[in-house]
Amino acid sequence: MLSKLVSKQIINHGLRLTTRAASASAQPKLVIDRKPPVKFQKLFINNEFVDASSGSTFEVINPATGDVITEVADASEKDVDRAVKAAKDAFRLGSEWRRMDPAARGQLLYKLADLMERDRAYLAALETLNNGKPFKDSYNVDIPHCISVLRYYAGWPDKMNGKVLPVAGDFFSYTRREPVGVVGQIIPWNFPMILLCWKIGPSVATGCTTVIKLDEHTPLTGLYTAKLIEEAGFPPGVVNIISGDGPHCGASLVKHPDVHKISFTGSTQVGKLIGIEAAKLVKRTTLELGGKSPNIVFADCDLDTAVEMSHFALFFNQGQCCCAGSRTYVEEKIYDEFVQRSIERTKRRKVGDPFDESTEQGPQISHEQMDKIIDLIESGKKNGAKLLVGGKREGDKGFFVQPTLFADVEDDHRIAREEIFGPVMQILKFKTVEEVIERANDSDYGLAASVFSKDLDKSIVVSNGLRAGSVWVNTYDNFDPVAPFGGFKQSGLGREKSEYSLDSYSETKCVTIKISQRNS
Ligand code: NAI
Ligand code: MG
Repeated sequence: MLSKLVSKQIINHGLRLTTRAASASAQPKLVIDRKPPVKFQKLFINNEFVDASSGSTFEVINPATGDVITEVADASEKDVDRAVKAAKDAFRLGSEWRRMDPAARGQLLYKLADLMERDRAYLAALETLNNGKPFKDSYNVDIPHCISVLRYYAGWPDKMNGKVLPVAGDFFSYTRREPVGVVGQIIPWNFPMILLCWKIGPSVATGCTTVIKLDEHTPLTGLYTAKLIEEAGFPPGVVNIISGDGPHCGASLVKHPDVHKISFTGSTQVGKLIGIEAAKLVKRTTLELGGKSPNIVFADCDLDTAVEMSHFALFFNQGQCCCAGSRTYVEEKIYDEFVQRSIERTKRRKVGDPFDESTEQGPQISHEQMDKIIDLIESGKKNGAKLLVGGKREGDKGFFVQPTLFADVEDDHRIAREEIFGPVMQILKFKTVEEVIERANDSDYGLAASVFSKDLDKSIVVSNGLRAGSVWVNTYDNFDPVAPFGGFKQSGLGREKSEYSLDSYSETKCVTIKISQRNS
């Protein structure tokens, strides 16, 4: 019943996150464990679970209640060093990993995906417990997407060809795509499992070894995945997974001289710091940062679809999406009706226990994030935007925020410029195509954008004019593994997913051989 209900909802949203995952019918009957046991709390280094060298731990909080779930190992600089050494050893020339056939690397990813499929219900429950996202999303969106992403990358290792080059003279010259080496990967808390898989996939496919630092709010599913990596048969040191904070643990991974590439997903503020540090040692860097994505609704759209998808574009995942459609520009002719329908939809949004079947919106990740959102809501009111729904904390337990809607938002309001990362929708009015393209592009960010219109010609013109890494037309959040994702401007550097991501995990080597014998 639950999966039927949710599949319907996902199809309605056009959300393609579940593509190529296992068919629902292949799954055993779903039993939801509202209190999944936490089985792994230690650092995963060299295929062993170890305590932090200092012995210290930190608390992991359930955002739906504010209660402590468990404590996990708190990695320090010394532990980062241990993990990097393991990754460096695994990358040594002649090691098991370096000698492994490319297709065998793919088999490891297939195996890991199979194990995630086996443990899908447990992983989804653990993700919901730790992150607060509705179980129906963890189960039907996040974990199936992880499986799809790993299977996508599993097909790549034996298909990354070099080229033979037509060099002048008696030479034979060819290129090889080689792994960049030891990679440091840092992920945030909004999609703990998905982002973990976006990082593991290209790193393993290209033959790199990695140290992944989980977010300090949401380490539980990543530490369980470590166990699956061991079970899948990865050689020791290929994937190391550690939990720790940003300023010490994360920063020491970024600075480590034996790490050749940093891949970071998180705030623009931290992304800039990481970019500066990484540049000191000329490390390769991919940064997937914040956004303030414009969603443009033209009068000739299908209004039902546009209202529902605009709601989804902003509110999905409690509004905690880097690509959230957080500036909804609506053409003047349909503005009033769009606002009215959006009010109705927002009022219907069901907030509550993330394990309940009917819940659409769970808690924000932390007290700090909740306070940031409330502060931005206050600024919206002060700046003169019209608050039409919500605007407050929901209840006094956990970190819930009411689904909130502002209309008559102006371009210079803080809520139209800053990333809110919460369930707060901004509706702005526009008149012409030229005007809306210019206003949509007037942002330091450039992660995603969308257009709602039945006029395909106009949609293409607008899509081409938008300065954003992903543009969705009459849909939102299409995250097929084959599609690249990343930002223009201060939304980042490089691309995640897709074959484009593989470039940033590989170096091009050119080998040139002198040919001494000639027969022509
Ligand atoms: P953050 O950028 O501080 O944290 C993300 C990751 O970076 C975490 O693993 C953290 O431990 C690590 N980190 C923090 N400081 C670091 C440093 N100096 N060196 C190395 N690693 C470091 O994000 P935070 O504080 O959790 O959220 C702040 C805002 O960032 C949010 O309100 C939201 O606007 C944005 N954000 C964007 C995300 C995205 O998907 N692009 C994800 C999470 C947050
Ligand atoms: Mg931070």
